[in-house]
Amino acid sequence: MARRTPSFVCQNCGAVYGRWQGKCEACGEWNTIAEEDAGGGVAATAPSRSGRKGRPFKLEPLAGETHEAPRHASHIAELDRVTGGGFVRGSVLLVGGDPGIGKSTLLIQAAAAIANAGERAVYISGEEAVAQVRLRADRLGLSRASVELASETSVEDIIATLSQGKTPRLVVIDSIQTMWTDSVESAPGTVTQVRGSAQALIRFAKKSGAAVILVGHVTKDGQIAGPRVVEHMVDAVLSFEGEGAHQFRILRAVKNRFGPTDEIGVFEMTGGGLREVTNPSELFLSERDLGAPGTAVFAGIEGTRPVLVEIQALVAPTTLGTPRRAVVGWDQSRLSMVLAVLEAHCGVKLSGHDVYLNVAGGLRIQEPAADLAAAAALVSSLTGAPLPADAVYFGEISLSGVVRPVAQAAARLKEAQKLGFARAVVPDSARGEAAEPALALSTADNLAGLVAEIAARGPGRSPAKLRRQEA
Ligand code: TYD
Ligand code: MG
Repeated sequence: MARRTPSFVCQNCGAVYGRWQGKCEACGEWNTIAEEDAGGGVAATAPSRSGRKGRPFKLEPLAGETHEAPRHASHIAELDRVTGGGFVRGSVLLVGGDPGIGKSTLLIQAAAAIANAGERAVYISGEEAVAQVRLRADRLGLSRASVELASETSVEDIIATLSQGKTPRLVVIDSIQTMWTDSVESAPGTVTQVRGSAQALIRFAKKSGAAVILVGHVTKDGQIAGPRVVEHMVDAVLSFEGEGAHQFRILRAVKNRFGPTDEIGVFEMTGGGLREVTNPSELFLSERDLGAPGTAVFAGIEGTRPVLVEIQALVAPTTLGTPRRAVVGWDQSRLSMVLAVLEAHCGVKLSGHDVYLNVAGGLRIQEPAADLAAAAALVSSLTGAPLPADAVYFGEISLSGVVRPVAQAAARLKEAQKLGFARAVVPDSARGEAAEPALALSTADNLAGLVAEIAARGPGRSPAKLRRQEA
């Protein structure tokens, strides 16, 4: 019989090596490589050990009857929006986020909502004692909800308990990093344990039809700690984000087998738990510095929902050899691109200036459509000329300085009008799409035109800025 060659598998990303090494070259993690039996599940081509012949099964055509996945809405609208309409039966969700961001709060609220709808909801904490969970629920005014609680870490015990009685609609496991299973030998908290526990819980979900939510901790660089493979195993990965000082929390789907991945849910952390924010624009615009140079309002789209948000820029002469470019809430490389286009095509010299760009309210924008608003804010800050307080901006900027069309112009304009804006600076193409005569559209077909227009407005009422410009 041929000698089995052992293989070494990275427990984080699943890369296979011929010999042991300290660092996985595929994912860069240290001490994640462990020996695995080549026959043990890794090599799918290994001959079946039982000697059983495969059983042929029936293949189905692509066309056929489909059933919408049965869902259970949590009745927390912002959460349902992100999951795509509720928790799918038998699905497993991974919710990641920084410590203290509000994962446990959100999930106890979700469990209580399901329980209040008359369904069975179970909340298992591996981190906090039952009393602590109760205390939080008390604070949230949820102590009367019939959520079943436990403080447990053994996956086998949890599954045995959940298998008794009526199948729960929702099971929250807070957190997957604290769970351990007998089937794996390594210590609790290791990647192998996390993977093994997740596997067992996923099997339970598929078999019983309960929706399972796993809470996952996040490492310093924002990855969900433990094996990346857990992200591949689950049906949806949600990330709960927020900027430390802000009260806003944004729930975002990173992966979703049963729904959209571009929707966001917006919450506000209050003394009484997480409150849904149904109109995010009002929230992100609430602290506007009206008439100050360097602020522009961007009419964006998050998922299917238009969101107006303020973009703030500060351009100041640098004292350093290499000027600083700092950006919060937007893409660093897109900022570099916009700056390069301003320099190359619009005659705006920025090489002697530090540039800071900030998206107000802790929102993170991913759309290229924000280019125009960012450019307007930058030029406004540089020249000290405030932008009109009643104008919104959107449009993508190409490397040649042309303002390109963006999707869903009509929805953006409608939201702007709803919030009392009177003007919009938009790509040429948006003129045809706009059904909002109440909004004065000025089209910018290239960036140079917009820059000239802002510069012509002249410095506004900011004496400090004026002095700096003259110096
Ligand atoms: P928590 O849900 O425990 O965070 P996580 O599970 O993600 O670690 O939330 C902890 C923070 O939320 C804590 O700093 C206090 C704050 N908080 C409120 O502001 N209001 C509340 O009603 C609750 C329950 C928590
Ligand atoms: Mg927690």
